[in-house]
Amino acid sequence: MITTATAPGKLIVLGEHAVVYGKPAVALAIDKRFACTIQESDATYLNGNIADFDSNPHIRKILEMHGLRNIAITTESAIPPSSGLGSSAALSVALTAAVRKHLKKEIDENDISMEAFEAEYTAQGRASPIDTSCSTHGKGVALNCPKDVGKHLWTISKCSESWDVSDIPVPRMTFVVGYTGIRAATGPLVEKVKKFREHSRFASDIIDEIGNITLEGMKAMNKNDIEELGRIMTQDHKLLSILGVSCKELNKYVDASLAYSYGAKLTGSGGGGSMIALTERPDLVCEAIRLRGGQPFVVRTGVDGVSVDP
Ligand code: MEV
Repeated sequence: MITTATAPGKLIVLGEHAVVYGKPAVALAIDKRFACTIQESDATYLNGNIADFDSNPHIRKILEMHGLRNIAITTESAIPPSSGLGSSAALSVALTAAVRKHLKKEIDENDISMEAFEAEYTAQGRASPIDTSCSTHGKGVALNCPKDVGKHLWTISKCSESWDVSDIPVPRMTFVVGYTGIRAATGPLVEKVKKFREHSRFASDIIDEIGNITLEGMKAMNKNDIEELGRIMTQDHKLLSILGVSCKELNKYVDASLAYSYGAKLTGSGGGGSMIALTERPDLVCEAIRLRGGQPFVVRTGVDGVSVDP
């Protein structure tokens, strides 16, 4: 039996890094998907080679959780790897769904998002469920948002943190992504912030501040106040820069985009990867990013989450 599942990438509108410490965050699913096909085999393969689990600890974890061996996995992705757009989480979500279907287990969003989060947590060393929840549910997802902003989906707890995951309405918005082409793994950036926070009161204040403005941003998005949302995104970028997770390319593209945008910021773990701009003039923003050496593209947001071939 051959089983295929696909899951979307995501962009984080507000709250990355701070969400690891239980602060609120908002993410939207994007129209770039990761596909995973599996079938029984005589050993465990990944794209035609014996699977290298040291480079893919999330895959190992998912197969272990389901006691599955001797499976050939084939992947295909439109999400650039280590780009801040959730390619690792989308793989974990799509593979979890494919494995569940293969083993005739229930295809339930809650179970898939929990298992994919476990896999990402193992791979990253520390994580929040923002990426895996958004890739599973699709549309718009907020973590730890006020009750009147979203509809509660599930709660995930790990170590001393807990996250209430909610579905939120997604207004019509246009986002341009500016990809730096610089691959930046999430784990080391999360670790960098952790160390900064452990050694500096200033860093934990910045994380609190990101949490506070994210709540304001959620309310603005809920009221369809795109101008205010953009302003808060730019503010968030400044705070993330102070936390040490931006880089000169991201700052350059954010700066260049602001002339034609409501707001702009890095998205995901930073250190390279991508930035986003919220705009009504996507062509001008794309041109500004391209002129500075970035790779711009417009994304559609609020798309469907995980899907399994019938
Ligand atoms: C990565 O897309 C988002 C981070 O907040 C890490 C996480 O939440 O697991 C940087």
